Amino acid sequence: MADKTFTLTNDETGDAVRLMVRESVQGPPTVDVTSLYRQMGVFTYDPGFMSTASCTSGITYIDGEEGVLEYRGYPIEQLAESGNFIEVAYLLLYGELPNKDELEKFDGIITHHTMINESLKGFFNGFQSNAHPMAVMVGVVGSLSAFYHDSLDINDPRHREISAHRLISKMPTIAAASYKHSIGEPIVYPRNSLSYCANMLHMMYATPCEDYEPDPVAVKALNLLFILHADHEQNASTSTVRLAGSSQANPFACIAAGIASLWGPAHGGANEAVLDMLTEIGDVSNIDKYIARAKDKNDKFRLMGFGHRVYKNRDPRATLTRKVSHECLSALADQNNPMFELAMRLEEIALSDDYFIERKLYPNIDFYSGIIYRALGIPNNMFTVMFSIARTVGWVAHWLEMMDDPQQRIGRPRQLYNGYQRRQYVPLDKR
Ligand code: SDX
Repeated sequence: MADKTFTLTNDETGDAVRLMVRESVQGPPTVDVTSLYRQMGVFTYDPGFMSTASCTSGITYIDGEEGVLEYRGYPIEQLAESGNFIEVAYLLLYGELPNKDELEKFDGIITHHTMINESLKGFFNGFQSNAHPMAVMVGVVGSLSAFYHDSLDINDPRHREISAHRLISKMPTIAAASYKHSIGEPIVYPRNSLSYCANMLHMMYATPCEDYEPDPVAVKALNLLFILHADHEQNASTSTVRLAGSSQANPFACIAAGIASLWGPAHGGANEAVLDMLTEIGDVSNIDKYIARAKDKNDKFRLMGFGHRVYKNRDPRATLTRKVSHECLSALADQNNPMFELAMRLEEIALSDDYFIERKLYPNIDFYSGIIYRALGIPNNMFTVMFSIARTVGWVAHWLEMMDDPQQRIGRPRQLYNGYQRRQYVPLDKR
């Protein structure tokens, strides 16, 4: 069958170029513009990449119109039901669900990489206790390449795999240590007899003075949140990891770059911003005032946890987190938690308002995840840290996929220049 093409014509000169169409397995096809500048002397212009596919990937598929999210072809709803984050991590990394032996082996590898170099403990003490934990995460994760020289050859597939395992394993240990440092408590070592999520809660809440057993409801909720946050196609932080990786930077530096990008309130920082917003709104009687502010073009205020670049229907993850937040609050916190009541009323009012309906601004995953983290006793400034733990699986999966791509090259976008034309230097005494 003849290749599908698009023809682009310069209406001024009549020059035309035929561009190949590359079909997706599912989702929109793409027009290959790699030869456009060479053939027509023009760049494409797409700030925010609203219409740009930056790479080929087989890890995650999103249909924003239909509210579909699939990891390696499996619907997120079914994976959420499975309730095992490590199984989903294996799926994202290796492309297939593990059998029993593969899962046990992988779980054992991840469990036995959880400790961090003892000298890293001094690094935490270099931060003031009121440092934002995300600042600590960026710093400490970025420093890991100083410790693991035995897995830094990015051209060695085995080194890449070991670094990926180390990052997935050590994120909870580093995250819990940053939390312990912020509250002036001693760092708690991982316990290998616990599951990944139970270990996270253990390292956050155990103390040397008494035993701590993670609540099974909390472990189940954390498993779900980590599964839902594990990957999401070419979002801002994943694209950051890919761009950093394209220069052949080491994986620890790439993941630190991803953590930095995720921190922004327009992206992963939104879950913390949702709770701050609900706290600021304070009471149902103030909702109308804040909805008006969110609609006011002259007001920078936005309804945090609403809207999404891709989902123009319900974010399937928000639907799942909304359901679990109910369960968590009834089991772990007071049923009529004012924050939750306020969130439910805010959602109800916003979704009946034409401004949000016309712009298809539905609650996204961050709208309810913060409420669950709050019910688990996790402080607001740790919400995005929890997001980064889960998303590390997606980040390293994309990094591995990119490094395995024989066509991989350094990412180097161009620009639409709108600065001064060439001009001559003016000596100081003449200015
Ligand atoms: C995540 O990319 C991913 O996949 C991200 C993520 C992942 O898993 O990696 O899903 C995680 O980051 C979820 C999003 C979390 N962010 C927030 O909740 C912050 C609040 N949301 C917005 O900042 C915004 O909706 C974005 C950033 C999420 C999306 O922005 P877009 O796609 O660039 O949309 P836009 O800013 O062009 O908005 C379109 C219109 C504008 O109004 P008009 O110019 O058409 O009049 O909608 C308005 C915006 O003003 N709008 C909002 C709004 N979001 C968009 N108005 C009020 N409140 C909002 N939240």
